[in-house]
Amino acid sequence: MENINICIAGLGNVGSALVQLIEKNAEFVKYKSDLKINIIGLSAKNKSKKRDFDISNYFWVDKPIRLLNIQGKKPNILVELIGYEKDISYELVKSALNQNINVVTGNKAMLAKYGNELFSIAEENKVLLLFEAAVAGGIPIIKTIKNNLFLNKINKISGILNGTTNYILTTMELEDKSFEDVLVDAKQKGFTSDHEAKLDIGGYDAAHKLTLLTSLAYGSEVDFELNEVEGIDKITIEDIKFAKQLGYKIKLISETSIIENTIYASTKPKLVSKENPIANTNGPLNAINVETDELKSLYLEGEGAGGFPTASSILSDIYEISNSTGYKSLGFTNSKLVKFKKFNSSNLESKYYLRIRAKEQPGVLSMITSYFNEANISIEKILQIPDNDSDSIPIVITTHKIISSELLSSVKKISDLDFILGYISLIPIEN
Ligand SMILES: NC(=O)c1ccc[n+]([C@@H]2O[C@H](COP(=O)([O-])OP(=O)(O)OC[C@H]3O[C@@H](n4cnc5c(N)ncnc54)[C@H](OP(=O)(O)O)[C@@H]3O)[C@@H](O)[C@H]2O)c1
Repeated sequence: MENINICIAGLGNVGSALVQLIEKNAEFVKYKSDLKINIIGLSAKNKSKKRDFDISNYFWVDKPIRLLNIQGKKPNILVELIGYEKDISYELVKSALNQNINVVTGNKAMLAKYGNELFSIAEENKVLLLFEAAVAGGIPIIKTIKNNLFLNKINKISGILNGTTNYILTTMELEDKSFEDVLVDAKQKGFTSDHEAKLDIGGYDAAHKLTLLTSLAYGSEVDFELNEVEGIDKITIEDIKFAKQLGYKIKLISETSIIENTIYASTKPKLVSKENPIANTNGPLNAINVETDELKSLYLEGEGAGGFPTASSILSDIYEISNSTGYKSLGFTNSKLVKFKKFNSSNLESKYYLRIRAKEQPGVLSMITSYFNEANISIEKILQIPDNDSDSIPIVITTHKIISSELLSSVKKISDLDFILGYISLIPIEN
């Protein structure tokens, strides 16, 4: 039986679930893995806060940094579940790695920003910095790429990496509610907080996760700047309904691939065909599709957040550390990581959905289509929907594939026309 001593910093949703999981499954873990996981120290902000387990069973320290030396003893693993992009999370993880202590974390914001530095400190000090919980909560995507698919050439990874935005988009459609109303509801249900909402809604949380997937898949340095990020705050219930009429759902899609030896890493809303399984990933679920030379499509769907699903990923990292003989936290050795350039996405070809609101007057449609004809933009479908409650009409257009910069220049000209009201909604359509 191997004893493994861990300390946990942060006892919120994930940290508390982890303590309970280790308590509940101690015998099962021993039986299956010959591992005895001992929690030798805990820390959070407020000792007197009510928790879902009995804190008096554990050694508590007020300052998380003191977890690195519990009564003269170094833990084998520090589990960081505080979640700041820098500050105490970064200081703690860096100190642990510098003292040859393995680290397990769910902190994608910190890794997307400081990953290069932290992964190389880990390797120099012959320890691991593992992060299964940081991407898609309970879905084992990191180990799938790092272990099972490591010798596959990955062509593309795409999917839904943020449960909150998926919950919002799904609920807007199912309950015919506005973005603002569903956001309030998502906060009440605990899917997001005021602070997290900015990262979730803005697409940044998904882009942090995509940054890590890009490194794992292509051996690129961890570089958040490679991402293009657009959130869901401009998606209206109108867009969701029109998309449905056209046979699509709107999803916040993150995707990464190599194009012309540069990285294309994008998180933005897209129209996805109803036939695509990703369109049917509903509520707070996440889904990821990996395409490789050898595997056309590997599709994983599951709980992308929540205390217990995420704690199960933390546990799998603890197990990996107990079994590991190497120190390649990212699969690659750090010296092999490559600094890639960012793909110039104005060259990207895609089909597009446009929603234009115009004053109801003769000639509007022919004027709009003449701009498309002039730029050789081929229109696939047009819906002109009467709106009895208003003296304006929505016009919905889908295009065939077009270089995005060419479309944008026509959209700019159309939006300057005096009969156009409000902004033109422009959303790419997933191929
Ligand atoms: N929640 C999820 O579903 C999920 C999924 C995937 C990844 N993650 C990641 O996992 C990490 C933890 O998430 P969470 O949802 O568990 O967060 P959380 O519920 O907000 O918990 C944060 C914990 O950190 C503690 N803390 C805050 N400031 C501190 C400080 N200055 N010193 C010491 N402790 C401090 C808090 O203490 P108090 O309890 O005393 O306030 C709390 O226990 C984050 O990096 C998150 O991105 C979470």
